[in-house]
Amino acid sequence: MPIRILPARLANQIAAGEVVERPASVVKELVENSIDAGANRIEVDIEKGGHRLIRVRDNGGGIAKEELTLALSRHATSKIASLDDLEAIMSLGFRGEALASVSSVSRLTLSSRTEGASEAWAAQAEGRDMEVKLSPVAHPVGTTVEVHDLFFNTPARRKFLKAEKTEFAHIDELVRRIALSRMDVALVLRHNGKVMRQYPALRGDNLDARLGAVCGQDFCRHLLALDNQHQALRLWGWVSEAPRNHPDLQYCYVNGRMMKDKLINHAVREAFGGRLAEGQHGAYVLYLELPANQVDVNVHPAKHEVRFHDARLVHDFIARALADALAQSGLGEEPAPIIDAPRPKSAPAPWSAPAMARPASPRATGQYSPSPAPSRQQVSEALDAFARWQPVPAAERPIAEPSQPLHLEAGRWLLLSHKGRLVAVDLQPLAARAAIAQLQKGAAAQPLLLPVNLPLEPSQLAAATQYQAQLAAWGLDLHQASPGRLLVRAVPAPLRDLDVAQWLPPWLGALDKDPWDALEEALLALPRRFRWQQALALWQDLPPDAQEQAARVLDLQPLLESH
Ligand SMILES: Nc1ncnc2c1ncn2[C@@H]1O[C@H](COP(=O)(O)OP(=O)(O)OP(=O)(O)O)[C@@H](O)[C@H]1O
Ligand SMILES: [Mg+2]
Repeated sequence: MPIRILPARLANQIAAGEVVERPASVVKELVENSIDAGANRIEVDIEKGGHRLIRVRDNGGGIAKEELTLALSRHATSKIASLDDLEAIMSLGFRGEALASVSSVSRLTLSSRTEGASEAWAAQAEGRDMEVKLSPVAHPVGTTVEVHDLFFNTPARRKFLKAEKTEFAHIDELVRRIALSRMDVALVLRHNGKVMRQYPALRGDNLDARLGAVCGQDFCRHLLALDNQHQALRLWGWVSEAPRNHPDLQYCYVNGRMMKDKLINHAVREAFGGRLAEGQHGAYVLYLELPANQVDVNVHPAKHEVRFHDARLVHDFIARALADALAQSGLGEEPAPIIDAPRPKSAPAPWSAPAMARPASPRATGQYSPSPAPSRQQVSEALDAFARWQPVPAAERPIAEPSQPLHLEAGRWLLLSHKGRLVAVDLQPLAARAAIAQLQKGAAAQPLLLPVNLPLEPSQLAAATQYQAQLAAWGLDLHQASPGRLLVRAVPAPLRDLDVAQWLPPWLGALDKDPWDALEEALLALPRRFRWQQALALWQDLPPDAQEQAARVLDLQPLLESH
């Protein structure tokens, strides 16, 4: 076949493949155009889940008659003119192809009138070359786009359309997302003539009304507001203290653009960390604002991903800002431990350079020593866990293994079959000791991209000053920021993933005692949840004799046999 230029409709249909997946994608493109046109009232009418009709009407600036033809042409936009514009984009659209794409796979009519124009005009693109025909219509200032019979000429696409109800549910979710992105814009959504959503325009202070309308009253009852700024980055919004069973209330915007971004999701998950049980999800509405030239929006045709120039900084900023907000809440966390026993006046400070040179305790050499006998509660928790445990079919178990991890309970208890006995191992002390052992071997300092400013008790501050050199040797970069506060710029790498605000103050407060005991105590007080892979690694990295001892501590076999 010779090389040819594709007819306009076919080229547009190919482009449509990337952006027009279903009726909801059409609604997204049209409503974004209305927002870019400065509208403060947008009405969306849907018939038959969008299969038959999608109509978006706005009161924005409108399109002049002479530009209607261009608006329907591919690569025609009023939003950027140069590469510089693209690199600092603030409008939602910029590719100049949404209308051309949609009109190539549907029967689309664009009607519009600008302020001061004496009449309104309607435009339709027809035939394989998509020639635009104009006709006069009655229309107020603003624009209406009507999309009939989506995918009527692309049967392969049409086949993938789901039932009316499902497609409308996607549209509804999209309108909710948009409603949270621009609370100053009034939105109405109708389906088959019936009003389904109505969001009046809001100004400034009573944003909660829309938050409640979109996310529900339950979300609003457990709200934590946050607003953090670091250099040119700002993160504000709300996070709920109440975890949910579905990831359905997770809204995130970058410079007003709705996002499904992996980096942001990762940072958010990291901030929630151990606060959520398995199967639980965080609920949040977050707005990230940063200079437009620090983020590339031209990553995906549907524009729901971005690339940050300084991805690490943005990631750590989001994680920290959110973790700080969550730390104020009681979301599944015990209160931060304050082990700040007043120092007896006469007691010498045993932990000084010579004291560090004393013979190392078994713990100080990284050896495992068993934790104290389990409490009644620990045993009953482990037994409860066992009652719910589904055995691994015998055929799937390796035979020769002396110990076989079976189940992880509550992110903390690893149930194992160990030499024919059922044992539960508490991972919390294993993790604490693994971190301490690494520290003792000389772990690297991990600089924090965002220094943490910690309020401290006078005794904790005094300890930080007194032992500064030793703390620095372990990777802690501490700096007195202001009276009563310490700036943490780096932490030991093995403790990087833990919230420094939770383990450092209690550790400093107990430094005069044995530093490793003090650190272990501080780490044990941190509620943590482990994932299966982490649990396996913690267990498998344990030397055999340490496994032996750990397994002895919570040996459930006698309890099982006595039942
Ligand atoms: N509702 C509207 N009100 C006013 N002008 C509009 C409206 N919709 C579209 N336009 C004009 O038509 C042009 C083309 O719209 P289209 O959506 O195809 O491209 P875009 O928004 O520039 O970029 P993208 O393809 O990224 O959406 C826009 O640049 C804008 O000038
Ligand atoms: Mg557009």
